[in-house]
Parts: sequence; C-alpha cells; structure tokens
Amino acid sequence: MFHGKHILIGVTGGIAAYKSALLVREFIKSGAHVKVIMTKGACDFITPLTLSVLSKNPVYTELFVPETGAWNNHVELGLWADAYVIAPATAHSLGKMAGGISDNLLLATYLSARCPVFVAPAMDLDMYEHPATKGNLQRLGEQGVHVIPAENGELASGLSGEGRMAEPAHILDFMAARLAEGLALYGKKALVTAGPTYEPLDPVRFIGNRSTGLMGIEIADRFAALGAETTLVIGPSHLPVPKGIRTVRVETADEMAREVFSRSGEMDFLVCAAAVADYRPMHPSTEKIKKKEDTLDIQLIKNTDILSELGKRKRPGQVLVGFALETENEEANALGKLQRKNADMIVLNSLRQEGAGFGTPTNKITIFDSSGRREDFDRKSKNKVAEDIVNKAAGLASNA
Ligand code: CTP
Repeated sequence: MFHGKHILIGVTGGIAAYKSALLVREFIKSGAHVKVIMTKGACDFITPLTLSVLSKNPVYTELFVPETGAWNNHVELGLWADAYVIAPATAHSLGKMAGGISDNLLLATYLSARCPVFVAPAMDLDMYEHPATKGNLQRLGEQGVHVIPAENGELASGLSGEGRMAEPAHILDFMAARLAEGLALYGKKALVTAGPTYEPLDPVRFIGNRSTGLMGIEIADRFAALGAETTLVIGPSHLPVPKGIRTVRVETADEMAREVFSRSGEMDFLVCAAAVADYRPMHPSTEKIKKKEDTLDIQLIKNTDILSELGKRKRPGQVLVGFALETENEEANALGKLQRKNADMIVLNSLRQEGAGFGTPTNKITIFDSSGRREDFDRKSKNKVAEDIVNKAAGLASNA
C-alpha cells in the first residue's frame, strides 16, 4: 500500500513524539518515501537529527531559515505528499488546525496540502475528554481530516485511560484502510501464487527451480496498492514481502494447492505466477539417501496443476491469470495453455528474450486474453510489468 508513496509526517510537541521515530521507521520499512516536519515544541522531545537519519531526508522545522533566509516551501511539501499524518497531534495543534491558524510550517503545510490528512491525537485523558478537544476533533472530521482514535493505556502523567497516541503499526493499518477506500480495486480480493516449490527427495534434498518469486510479489503489491485485499501464497523465496499483503508460506506444490483451493472461492482475481514443480518424487525417503550405485532412479509423479484446477472451479466474474514460460513455439503454447486451463489471460515470458524470466529484475511479456487479443509490451522492470498485468486483469473484470 505505501510502497513508493510520499508520506509527510508532522510531529508536534508531546511526549509521544518519541514514537514518531518508530512511525518513520515503519513507513520506511513499507517502502514509502518519508519527509518530516516538526514544531519547535516537538524538538524538545526528540531531535530532528534522529528523524532525519531515519527518514533519510532533511527535517523541516521553520518556515524559513533565519541565517540564510532560505524558505521552506510549505506548498511544495503539501503537493509532494500522497498523505500527511500529524502524529502525535497535541490538543494545542489540533485546536489551531480546527481554527485555521497557521503560525508554523507544520500548520501552513496542513492548510495548503491537497492530499488526505490524518491526525493521531496524544494527550492526557482529561484533555482528550474535554469538550473543547472533542469539538476540535469533530470539526476536523467535518473538514475531511481522518482522526486516528487515541488508544487506552498508561499515560505519561501516571494516569491511565484514553489519550495515548495510537501505536505506529496501528497508524499504518488505519491509514492503509482509509486510503484504500478511494482505490480502483477497493472491496475486491486477489490471490497470487509466487516463487518456486521444493519437492522433497529425502530430509535434506529437494527438486526445485530458479524462480525467486519477484514477479508474483510485485503483482501482489500492485493489487494491494489498488486497494484489493491481497493474499500471496509463496514457495521458498528469500525476498521480503511488502506489508499489507497477507502472506502464506509453503514448500511443496501440494501445500500450495491446498492453501490456494481453501481460499479461491472468495477471490475476484486469481493469478498463478508460481513456478510450480510439475512432478514430485513418488516415494521421498525418510532417511538421507546414501550414495551406492553409479546411477540413481527416482520415480516422479505429477503434481496437481493449480491453474487448471482453478479453471475448472472458476465462477462467473472471477478473473483467472496464468503464466507461460516458453523456449519455443511461444504463441501456440501460450494459447494452448489459455484454453486448456480455462484462464482469462495468459502472460507469456519467452526465455529467448533478453531480460525476461527467472532471476532478472526486468521482464518482457505478451498477454493473450480469452477473446483472442494479443498485446506485446516493452521490456520493463518487474514492478512496471506488474502494473500492466494487474491493469489488464482489472479491465477484464470490469468487462465481465
Ligand atoms: N501451474 C500451476 N500448477 C502446476 C503447474 C503450473 O498452477 N502444477 C501454473 C503456473 O503457475 C503458470 C502456468 O500453470 O501460471 C503455466 O505453467 P507452465 O509450467 O509454463 O506450464 P505447464 O502447464 O506446466 O506446461 P509445460 O511445463 O509443459 O510447459
């Protein structure tokens, strides 16, 4: 959801300002670009240096720098942001926001920002309960600000109750949910398979392949970025999966099939990007296989074809996407798979194309859909390819 997004964090002067360091880190971990604005009061609780190091950007504190006269352009900062979150938001700052007072950079940016704005109030419980605070929060809500409710617990005053700033992870969850509401695939569910499968020969050996899982992860990330509730069923992969994607880790084709089939009924989009082993050893040894003879025969048995099975179970409105990785007769093989597996579109990767296939950061694809259309795409980074694939699938869904 936040991958590649511009997140502006405003920090005001309350003890919860120390948690803004964790908030910055959470956003950076989720792949966002982060800039921070602090009020003077916030700088008494946490140093700009800490937030600058964590956000990998200079921290803005003043409308202009007195020594040089350099102007920190609040309009530019507001336009840069995809979302602006003020956390912690003190009663004082909330009051000024509600009243349209702009006497520092953080507030001037609030008034000029065009992106969604969130506030995470933090104060003592009596301040939080005070009708003036409640009234300000209500006014902000009416002005379109998203209020992230304070949480219950021990407060710095020694009292206990409502007023603690929401935990950074909860702030991200809250924002992700709200931001998703305006997105194209909000309310839809997507399941993506990715990565290789490992088929055990004995307790230490397996049959596997060179898939890294990157293409499937990028596709899942794109579905999530468009607001779809996304599940990734992924075989052994060393790559990190962005936050906001429900991840189910599996080893074998059998496990992958089970996890996919138990969820597939409720999905709007099913994308089979995994490089599933077609066969598995029929009788995996319970003990490590010892070397004896010069040759070793291993009998293999076919795995369930997950894509084909999903094609059989497909219900109206579901969009099923498969991949074809080919080295020869690309078009004929891809079209054959499209039909045989009852998919709505097949993404063809030709291993004859440079910069396509396993282990490359780029891919070059051709998409065939079930109405016979063929679209060739340029070689692109896998995250751009994921955009093309998901856009095409979304287009098929809206035409269904
Ligand atoms: N696939 C799958 N389950 C399997 C095998 C393949 O879901 N057991 C899916 C892949 O995720 C991919 C598509 O089927 O979306 C095509 O896989 P590929 O291995 O290229 O095709 P196969 O049908 O296995 O045919 P072949 O290996 O003969 O090319």
